[in-house]
Amino acid sequence: MIRTLMLLCIVTALSLASDHLIAPIPNHLDVDPHKAELGKKLFFDTRLSVDNSIACVSCHHLTEGGDDNLPVSFGVHGHKGTRNAPTVYNAVFDFRQFWDGRAKDLQEQARGPIENPVEMAHHFDRLIPLLQTTDYAPRFQAIYPDGITPTNIANALAEYEKTLITPNAPFDRYLRGDKEAISPQAKVGYTLFKTKGCILCHQGMNIGGSMYNKFGIFVESNLTDMGRFAVTHKERDRFFFKVPSLRNIDKTAPYFHDGHETSLRKAVLTMSEYQLGRKMTQADVDAILAFLHTLDGQLPEGIMPQ
Ligand code: HEC
Ligand code: HEC
Repeated sequence: MIRTLMLLCIVTALSLASDHLIAPIPNHLDVDPHKAELGKKLFFDTRLSVDNSIACVSCHHLTEGGDDNLPVSFGVHGHKGTRNAPTVYNAVFDFRQFWDGRAKDLQEQARGPIENPVEMAHHFDRLIPLLQTTDYAPRFQAIYPDGITPTNIANALAEYEKTLITPNAPFDRYLRGDKEAISPQAKVGYTLFKTKGCILCHQGMNIGGSMYNKFGIFVESNLTDMGRFAVTHKERDRFFFKVPSLRNIDKTAPYFHDGHETSLRKAVLTMSEYQLGRKMTQADVDAILAFLHTLDGQLPEGIMPQ
């Protein structure tokens, strides 16, 4: 009861002052073109995996939502992971990387999958000598004085990922002043997104990706994944996950850290019940879905390598 009252007060205060909580993403980020090109080559290269079977792009499909549309991902030798692959699109705008935020930025993140035993299962001390025998050697040398190192591989990948942004979504155009860019129903949805309290957590440039929060505030969820608790071992972090971005959300099913929900409609209903302690009418959900559809941005040009 007290929780509900507190939430209602916060939500009312916020909805009065929440217009600035979501910002459009920039149309372009400055990148070092040589590093980004090298990073792109690495992103598509299966040689980064121990048996040459898997590249970053195998789990982060760039012609679609930047994820793999599976509940959890499969790495080398068919090894099954435990978490849903988030999109790489707009990841650069997130305040931390991974569902539990264990990497502080893209560069720190990029080292993870290469040595993760259920993903690419390689080891830098074997991978680097292999890459030295390829045309990567002169390419790295031309950019990085110390040549091919784990740090430089991650640096190039991270630079490339800065190009993986999806600007100019109808909602971004709306925020920039084009009031006709989204439908009347989507406008109702945006208002509900604020007044119901979704924006308490899904805010910032990515409409998410700016904080952690608990999955299951009003309804106990029986999760096996402890989320941030596994990183910090602090009781208050149990079942806390990075609030995911809602950009391009209609392209990145299935949903949640374990990918258990295939329907976006049901994911919204779950959020309403678990995070806000309220049921939603069909019309409210329809409007929120119409709003969420306005978050699809433009994919970068020339996604696939030449
Ligand atoms: C086998 C599938 C697989 C491969 C290969 C893979 N990823 Fe991922 N990626 C995932 C999964 C699953 C997660 C979420 C893991 C977690 O949160 O614990 C993830 C998370 C990420 C994130 C964090 C996004 C966010 O919102 O937190 C980025 C960025 C990323 N991967 C980039 C890469 C890059 C770069 C490579 C290649 C070096 C790569 N991935 C290879 C499956 C994969
Ligand atoms: C108290 C914080 C909080 C509130 C309020 C909240 N969410 Fe979430 N949302 C989260 C967290 C945390 C997750 C990730 C949960 C997980 O996978 O464990 C999430 C996940 C989602 C997802 C799935 C995203 C994906 O990539 O898997 C959708 C869709 C979503 N929220 C929409 C909404 C909508 C719509 C509302 C309002 C009705 C809302 N959320 C309210 C914190 C919140």
